[in-house]
Amino acid sequence: MDTKKTIPFSGTKEQEEQLKAAIDERKAEKGALMPILQKAQEIYGYLPIEVQTLISDYMEIPMEKIYGVATFYSQFNLSPKGKYRVSVCLGTACYVKGSGDIYEKLQTLLGIKGGECTPDGKFSLDACRCVGACGLAPVVMVNDDVHGKLTVDDVERIIAQYQ
Ligand code: FES
Repeated sequence: MDTKKTIPFSGTKEQEEQLKAAIDERKAEKGALMPILQKAQEIYGYLPIEVQTLISDYMEIPMEKIYGVATFYSQFNLSPKGKYRVSVCLGTACYVKGSGDIYEKLQTLLGIKGGECTPDGKFSLDACRCVGACGLAPVVMVNDDVHGKLTVDDVERIIAQYQ
């Protein structure tokens, strides 16, 4: 059972209509499930169990199959992402320069663990692999912004920029 903190699902009727239209458009195609899950993630931002259930019912595909695909591919998020997606690089170059401590500090500061989202939906926190900016290690990404050469003491200042 997933015990991660999450914000409650709040899908709208419009989102459901959009999803059903996308399913109607593609469901006859072979291999339609992947693009439909991608579309669903585009509509909702992530694939919570409520959305997976809707797809399962509407496409008449067993829930296990939907869940299997959604959890197998890392492109799918099962929990919501914040308005600001904070990713700490735990690749080797960053790790040896202290990104593990930065990751811990972010968890304390935001009050969430990796993979979680703050209850106000503002920040989500994840660890990631090398983002190709090893020369700037240790690196933290906030959406598309790269923050490099950080120390634990820089963490509060960086988060404050997005408050
Ligand atoms: S290891 Fe962090 S950017 Fe390469």
